[in-house]
Amino acid sequence: MQASQIKIMDHPLLRHKLGLLRSEATQTADFRRLLREVGMILACEATRDAPMQPRPIVTPLEPMEADRIPADALCFVSILRAGNGLLDGMIDLLPFVPVAHIGIHRDHQTHEAREYFYQAPADLASRRVIVVDPMLATGNSAVAALDRLKADGARSLRFICLVAAPEGVAAVTSAHPDVEIIAGALDRCLDENAYILPGLGDAGDRLYGTE
Ligand code: URA
Repeated sequence: MQASQIKIMDHPLLRHKLGLLRSEATQTADFRRLLREVGMILACEATRDAPMQPRPIVTPLEPMEADRIPADALCFVSILRAGNGLLDGMIDLLPFVPVAHIGIHRDHQTHEAREYFYQAPADLASRRVIVVDPMLATGNSAVAALDRLKADGARSLRFICLVAAPEGVAAVTSAHPDVEIIAGALDRCLDENAYILPGLGDAGDRLYGTE
C-alpha cells in the first residue's frame, strides 16, 4: 500500500471550507464551526466502504430491506485536543459510533510525542478504527497513536486529517504501511518549529481560542 497510502479528498466544498479555515481572519467561533463541517465531509470518505447490513423496515407504501451501518462496525479515535474539532462533525453524522481518546502532548522543543491519556472501547479488534487529527505534521503523534491502538488490538485503521505535510505522510507510511491516510490537502513542508506551510497555524489554539 506504500505508493497509494494518502488519498486527498479533492471536493470543492472541502476546498472552499479549508480556504476559510486557513485564513488568519477566521476567528474561533467560525473556525470551530468550519472544522466540524469538514469533519462531516471527511467522514463521508472515511466511511466509503463501511460494512452495511439490510434491516427490514416499512415505508409508507410497503415493506423493504433498508441498509444500515451496524453499531459495532466502527470506532472513532480523537487525538486530543485538536482531533475533537473534526470528531464533532463525524459524531454528528454517526452518533452511535463509540469514540476513543488519546492525549498526546507534542514537546515544542523536540517535537517528540508523549502520551498522557488513553481510553478506548474493549472491542477495537473487531471494529474499523478511524483516527482523526486535523494536522499531520511530523507524524510523531500519528505514529504514536497508531502504535498504541495496534498494541490495544486494533487491526483495521485509517488516519483522517485536514492538512498533511509530506514529512508526516512519510513517517506514517514508513511506520504503518497498512494504514490509509485521507487528507483534505497535502501542503508544502514543515517550518523550523514543525508547523505546516502554508497550513492554518495551530489547530488546537485556533479551535479553543488559546493563542
Ligand atoms: N499542529 C498544528 O496544529 N499545526 C501545524 O501546523 C502542525 C502541527
